[in-house]
Amino acid sequence: MTKKEIILTGDRPTGPLHLGHYVGSLANRVKLQNEYDQFVMLADLQALTDHYEQSKQVHDNTLQVALDYLAVGIDPNKSTIFIQSMIPEIPELTAYYMNLVTLNRVTRNPTVKTEIKQKKFGESVPFGFVAYPISQAADITAFKGSLVPVGEDQLPMIEQTNEIVRSFNRIYNCNVLVEAKALIPKVSRLVGTDGKAKMSKSLGNAIYLSDSADEIKKKVMNMFTDPDHIRVEDPGKIEGNTVFMYLDVFDSDVQEIQKLKDHYQKGGLGDVKLKQRLIQVLDDFIRPIRERREEFAKDPQEVMNILKKGTITAQAVAAQTLQEVKQAMGLIYF
Ligand code: TRP
Repeated sequence: MTKKEIILTGDRPTGPLHLGHYVGSLANRVKLQNEYDQFVMLADLQALTDHYEQSKQVHDNTLQVALDYLAVGIDPNKSTIFIQSMIPEIPELTAYYMNLVTLNRVTRNPTVKTEIKQKKFGESVPFGFVAYPISQAADITAFKGSLVPVGEDQLPMIEQTNEIVRSFNRIYNCNVLVEAKALIPKVSRLVGTDGKAKMSKSLGNAIYLSDSADEIKKKVMNMFTDPDHIRVEDPGKIEGNTVFMYLDVFDSDVQEIQKLKDHYQKGGLGDVKLKQRLIQVLDDFIRPIRERREEFAKDPQEVMNILKKGTITAQAVAAQTLQEVKQAMGLIYF
């Protein structure tokens, strides 16, 4: 079978992956690896842009995220899993692209702006951090990735990538670089266990794909439901009810959920019963992932071999693109 489009995607290894990652992009990657040539990047270089003081931790997280990938079913026989910092062609491409982007343009990126606020960088935002969308354009274009399965917060990165692609091809009068399309799932955002914001490690509201049954239980029992649902017999609200939001995403028995919603709204259905159902549903979902993760973790050498093999394959592709880029710019000397 010939695979027509190339997928390039990845995550910053700043911590283990959680259910939000699964809903936002992992599910798509597991599915699409059968039809596309897929490259999955452990974006450790990008992780350093806000974790440069924790470089050893980033190294360890890279291996943890690799385990998460393998555990959810990203199959090294179908997808190429690789480590970003092992591909020097990526920062080299970034250097060429930097000239095609204005300082004004990078500081206007809405995702970068939000992150600068969230991370409380204030006036001391590292230059590497504001510039990371340019490096991400290098990630994508190095592989001529045309499809990028990610969560919706990554749309500005794809837009930035395509601006660079068009500028490069126009200025150097070529068609070496390929435009990319983001692939965003219908439900791309999972609310955190606090019910307030998107699930994220930094907000402390995440359920991890590696969480134990006990951790899942504790996190679900602490979830918000309807603050006015005080006694079991009181009618309860569905809107803004975190437990129902999760059941909508992870419980496949749609009919039963509808019944529970009706019952809850009428009154007479207690929060604990509802939470027990969610604990069961989430544990059924996470248990096989956790078990596969433990299996892979028993053989770190094998995991390292998978990453090494993937990185060698990926580097050859990036080197070919870099060669074409330099050729288009007339920068071949000897
Ligand atoms: N920016 C992504 C994140 O925040 C990670 C990433 C780096 C990425 N390079 C990429 C995603 C290229 C898709 C394509 O997790």
